[in-house]
Amino acid sequence: MVLIGFMGAGKSSVGRALAERLGWAFEDLDERIEQRERRKVAEIFRDSGEAAFRRAEHAALKELLVELRTRVQKIVALGGGAFVQKKNAGLIEASGIPTVFLDADAEELWRRCRSQSEQQGLERPLLGNRESFRLLHESRRPHYLKASLRQETGGKTVGEIAAEVVEALGLDRRRGR
Ligand code: S3P
Repeated sequence: MVLIGFMGAGKSSVGRALAERLGWAFEDLDERIEQRERRKVAEIFRDSGEAAFRRAEHAALKELLVELRTRVQKIVALGGGAFVQKKNAGLIEASGIPTVFLDADAEELWRRCRSQSEQQGLERPLLGNRESFRLLHESRRPHYLKASLRQETGGKTVGEIAAEVVEALGLDRRRGR
């Protein structure tokens, strides 16, 4: 399955928890981009600009989707802008892989991103300020709502969110389903 949503939605942490729970593999698309480009996402943005990053993102996604044709038990976390690009959403929809939108309000997403940047030094080139963050979130949310499943994450722990996704998709191996 593919996890989508805005910055701070918890795509990577929920993705890891889901992978652990289901015994599936996990992959973060941004990490594939960094390996292919031999540069950090922040460096690609800084040195080559957003358009170059989007090209690298699309190429990495295409490569990954080809691999998923044979290895289906994988959780993939996309960067916040990936599914907003029409051609990326088209490729994912055509693949038939279920998409899960991790939803939360802009204020909570902003708080999570701020604390990740302060505590872990996580650099997000498009973080901007509170107001630009809110506007970007508002413009992207309609795209995320096209996902197969919308999962509310506000006020929930990573474990709770993973459990709810598993339940909603009927995937719990511990229940023998
Ligand atoms: C982006 C989000 C980032 C990363 C890049 C662009 C975006 O990923 O892909 O900085 O356009 O929202 P996260 O959503 O994991 O922060």
